[in-house]
Amino acid sequence: MKFFVDTANLDQIEEAQDLGILDGVTTNPSLMAKEGIKGKNNILNHYKNICEIVDGDVSAEVISTTYEAMIKEGEELASLHNQIVVKLPMIKDGVKAAKYFTKKGIKTNITLVFSAGQALLAAKAGATYVSPFLGRLDDISTDGLNLISEIREIYDNFGFKTEILAASIRHTMHIIDCAKIGADVITSPLSSITGLLKHPLTDIGLDKFLKDHQKGN
Ligand code: E4P
Repeated sequence: MKFFVDTANLDQIEEAQDLGILDGVTTNPSLMAKEGIKGKNNILNHYKNICEIVDGDVSAEVISTTYEAMIKEGEELASLHNQIVVKLPMIKDGVKAAKYFTKKGIKTNITLVFSAGQALLAAKAGATYVSPFLGRLDDISTDGLNLISEIREIYDNFGFKTEILAASIRHTMHIIDCAKIGADVITSPLSSITGLLKHPLTDIGLDKFLKDHQKGN
């Protein structure tokens, strides 16, 4: 299972990389705006900076919504660095664009996926990753984890190679449940990943070991 961090914050990306468990990064226009990254050149430079920090795939999302514009924008993004994955919205032109990039050997991530049917189309287009947003489904009283299970079953039925990238993760249990279901990747805020470290018995046990060691010396 791969761990991606879902942020455009360079400090957090460095911290995750330093932890030694990072496999990649996902960003989106909202996350870029949150970091105050504005203007085309700054945005492109920021993607390059992220690629310099991490070893794995870095999803860079297009803001175009027509096929021709997505191809132009996606090609420019892909030319920035060999770790860039072109992130495309789950709309008709996004699916067509995914097929185009697949044929060219450029990795893609189809985002804003909220149904099994959408995930099936992403796989048919040969997308490298499909991003079902489980937290946003939970937010509207719909079982996000059930969608991850449905996609896993469908992809396994036919041996689709598209990797399930569970997105919109809100907490540690989402990560654990995705691992049980067999999502290939989770993309998560750093806080949910580091949350996996925590257990009070670990802290109590370590404290006792260290105190006992001191007593014996
Ligand atoms: C995925 O690639 C998205 O960037 C992200 O996971 C969306 O998460 P949110 O619902 O917390 O905005």
